[in-house]
Amino acid sequence: MAKRVGTVRSVRALRKRVAAWRAAGETVALVPTMGALHEGHLSLVRLAKKRADRAVVSIFVNPTQFAPSEDLGTYPRDEVGDRKKLAALDTDLIFSPTEKEMYPPDFSTRVQVADVSEGLCGASRPQFFSGVATVVAKLLIQCLPDIAVFGDKDYQQLLVVRRLARDLDIPVKIVGGPVVREPDGLAMSSRNAYLTPKERRIAPLLHSTIEDVAADIAAGRPIEDALTAGRERLIAAAFDLDYLELRDAQSLKPIEDEVDGPARVLVGAYLGRTRLIDNVAVPRKRP
Ligand code: PAJ
Repeated sequence: MAKRVGTVRSVRALRKRVAAWRAAGETVALVPTMGALHEGHLSLVRLAKKRADRAVVSIFVNPTQFAPSEDLGTYPRDEVGDRKKLAALDTDLIFSPTEKEMYPPDFSTRVQVADVSEGLCGASRPQFFSGVATVVAKLLIQCLPDIAVFGDKDYQQLLVVRRLARDLDIPVKIVGGPVVREPDGLAMSSRNAYLTPKERRIAPLLHSTIEDVAADIAAGRPIEDALTAGRERLIAAAFDLDYLELRDAQSLKPIEDEVDGPARVLVGAYLGRTRLIDNVAVPRKRP
């Protein structure tokens, strides 16, 4: 039987545990999450366990990254299930702070990452990345791990976190883990639970479309043509499209003429009331 995983709710208790590991010469990985854990999250925990002696998973549904109109109130929560899943992976500690611990009533600081936060998800969710950057900066400073693991699924978020750690000289290595998908290609997400059965049948088209767009671009189809075809296909299938774009994989700058380095196709769209995002790499042309 899997061991029980300890849970701490205060920064003080977290630091005490991490300090004891450090004193014993052990390395520490942090996996930040908002809970309702699925295989995508768990793959990051496995990666964390591979890369460090100890893995801490934080579970905190961060209010500052939700707009008032968004789903903070209904965001799925499953503390008991999460604890079981994490125990099975031999997670060393769960950090599940209270809202007051993270944001005391006179909390006054916001971390704002320009450039990579702009456009894509940043365009339609203006406060989202500053909420993410604020909470991730706090989590990194609270835990001071050697590495912190984030999913490629939220690709723009991964780049925002990388930039933030570099700009603020937080001594941590940010590690990205590959997107974990359902058998039909739909990227796993806590929000998939909101989809109606009909929407769930349509949802995998998001992934197959960006795969096709990426393959067409790699094969030499003009970029704007390939993007337009992808956008039209999604709109025809009832997606309310937010963006479907080709971007430089490091800078997230738009690529207009020719792909001459790592590039990604990224998409954000509503299906009914559910916001879904996904992204894939453009395959490298054979020399
Ligand atoms: P959450 O949506 O819970 O995701 C936590 C981590 O799991 C993120 O790094 C995300 O990219 C990764 N993840 C989610 N689905 C995945 C999938 N299908 N495959 C691989 N990785 C996946 O992202 C957040 O929480 C929050 O914004 C957070 C960073 C915790 C800050 O509040």
